[in-house]
Amino acid sequence: MNFALIGYGYWGPNLARNIKSIPGINLKYICDVDPDRGKNINFRYPGTGFVCDCEAIANDKEIDAVLIATPVKTHYLLCKMMLDNGKDVFVEKPLAYSTDHAQELVNLAEKNEKILMIGHTFLYSPSVNEIKKIINSGELGEIYFISSSRVNLGKHQKDVSVLWDLAPHDLSMFHYWLESNPHWVSCNGNNYIIKDIPDVAFMHLNYPGDICVNLEIAWLAPSKLRRVAIVGSQKMLVYNDMETLEKVKIFDKGVDYKDPESFGEYQLSYRSGNIFSPYISSQEPLYLEVLDFYNSIKNRTQPVSNGRLGLNIVKIIEKAEQSLNNKGEQVKLV
Ligand SMILES: NC(=O)c1ccc[n+]([C@@H]2O[C@H](COP(=O)([O-])OP(=O)(O)OC[C@H]3O[C@@H](n4cnc5c(N)ncnc54)[C@H](O)[C@@H]3O)[C@@H](O)[C@H]2O)c1
Repeated sequence: MNFALIGYGYWGPNLARNIKSIPGINLKYICDVDPDRGKNINFRYPGTGFVCDCEAIANDKEIDAVLIATPVKTHYLLCKMMLDNGKDVFVEKPLAYSTDHAQELVNLAEKNEKILMIGHTFLYSPSVNEIKKIINSGELGEIYFISSSRVNLGKHQKDVSVLWDLAPHDLSMFHYWLESNPHWVSCNGNNYIIKDIPDVAFMHLNYPGDICVNLEIAWLAPSKLRRVAIVGSQKMLVYNDMETLEKVKIFDKGVDYKDPESFGEYQLSYRSGNIFSPYISSQEPLYLEVLDFYNSIKNRTQPVSNGRLGLNIVKIIEKAEQSLNNKGEQVKLV
């Protein structure tokens, strides 16, 4: 199968490395508008050509599938061009910069019977998949709330806010674990370094079952945090992606409430038991992601991180941005 990769900046090389490690894929071209990005390609990947104009890829009938790792605002036009030319498409997160564009791409892929996959890498993380199994087994009980922090002194994107850059990771995990979309979102944030590009945001989401979700994202923070806490009626879980071992820990902790039987006081009993950390495979999420794209093309099946999921994430970010611009007002998702 012949693949091409468009965008060879920070993230593109990681995709290229994983594409090259899957037998059955020939990476025919790498494309970047910046000719300097092509300097070492011949040396690193002999047999892979470098082009600056993606039309060469769109017009090449031998190319089956294209991966796109370019800035967010270029996703829509590049995806559309590739889908129009009969290619299966993988595009980095987020799918597009507006719900209208994301919806149009999903419709186009469905009409042309093409695979449209989004690079929501965390859906391929063995830790995230273990957590999904734990939630589905009922071990945590009823999910009460989730609190997530994804902050560090990070790379400021020039074209989009921290919402479009970092929130797709957490929102895709929440969607995957809770198997639902939020009823509403509210978001506060600010731009401290680059004018009009918020670099800090605090998002609140309300999911079916009255699950309260809090998400903190920032490119401006003293230390790097990648931490999700899930609090359930039976147990609590912490996913700390900064840990090398024991990324997921389940705490047998909780509070039981008993209604008073007479006019006496209600009773609370606090539980604090074992802490358990399950074995988690160390497979690289990005490898599993590219493999899912390859298998979806081969078997004509939908990938886990499919276009409809990507569309849902774009809808939430768009509403969160609307809320941020309106002082944190609650915005409904319909
Ligand atoms: N899945 C993840 O964990 C993850 C991590 C980082 C970035 N990303 C995503 O990857 C994408 C790229 O991010 P980045 O940090 O690599 O950006 P970047 O700016 O470092 O690289 C983008 C590259 O695309 C090239 N480019 C721009 N327009 C082009 C066009 N029309 N045709 C060909 N090349 C073009 C640029 O010259 C640049 O080299 C974004 O969507 C980002 O959200 C995903």
